Amino acid sequence: MFKKAILLMFLAFMSLQVFASDAEHPPKMNWSFQSIFGTYDRAALQRGFQVYHEVCAACHSLNHLAYRHLAGIGFTPETIKALAAEKEIRDGFTEEGEIFKRPGIAADHIAPPYINESAAKAANNGSLPPDLSLIVKARAHGPDYLHAILTGYAEPPKEVQLGENMHYNKYFAGRQIAMIAPLHEGMVNYTDGTPTNVEQYAKDVVTFLTWAGDPKMEERKSTGFKVMFFLIILTLFMFFTKRRVWRNIKD
Ligand code: HEC
Repeated sequence: MFKKAILLMFLAFMSLQVFASDAEHPPKMNWSFQSIFGTYDRAALQRGFQVYHEVCAACHSLNHLAYRHLAGIGFTPETIKALAAEKEIRDGFTEEGEIFKRPGIAADHIAPPYINESAAKAANNGSLPPDLSLIVKARAHGPDYLHAILTGYAEPPKEVQLGENMHYNKYFAGRQIAMIAPLHEGMVNYTDGTPTNVEQYAKDVVTFLTWAGDPKMEERKSTGFKVMFFLIILTLFMFFTKRRVWRNIKD
């Protein structure tokens, strides 16, 4: 009886799992930043920022990042200043009580596309484009998943009924997503001769967004190695000290 109940619960749980994982598993990719020695590819980071800036920033904010942080992907202070100055930043109120606006400076956070969530939803048929600062960390298999979503749009199979303003994407939960396919061949001009196709854009913007969520990764890895190195030397030192100290003691 008890065994049966357990079995039933297990089966119910498994069916829920199948239901929840209706989306396909994202294909495993080879990212330069994922191994223990891995680092971010600087050129990919800069191209990825370009894709975010020219495409995704129309709908998605990147709240945790300030313009000055872009020094971390190799931008010069001049580039950063110019990027920030492109945007108008709302900064308190004038004496007449109106919103005061000024050009952005390096210390400002990256300007969001909408004033607030309601405006963001209203502009996107009621769906909220999430902030992308931590999205890679917030999703299982973050980089693979994001890459899959960006490249996973297709014509829906005949038996699939899409909701209004929904788009078929087999990697998104429920296989329908409110975001229209954002990337198209040739839409962003790369100046370094890198191919300008959807696959490449997706790889670059995922590299950039992974960095945005974890800009200290390289520093952390290198500190980790220094600490390990120190511990190994210390262990050797202790070992030989012990041998020396006990050398003349006979039992
Ligand atoms: C026209 C507006 C628009 C553009 C441009 C756009 N998105 Fe979206 N995005 C959305 C909306 C709306 C959603 C919410 C989808 C939903 O909940 O069904 C979304 C959702 C997402 C999600 C979340 C998926 C999840 O698991 O919840 C990611 C990641 C994402 N977008 C990345 C990007 C990237 C990267 C770009 C640029 C290459 C981009 N988006 C461009 C509107 C946009």
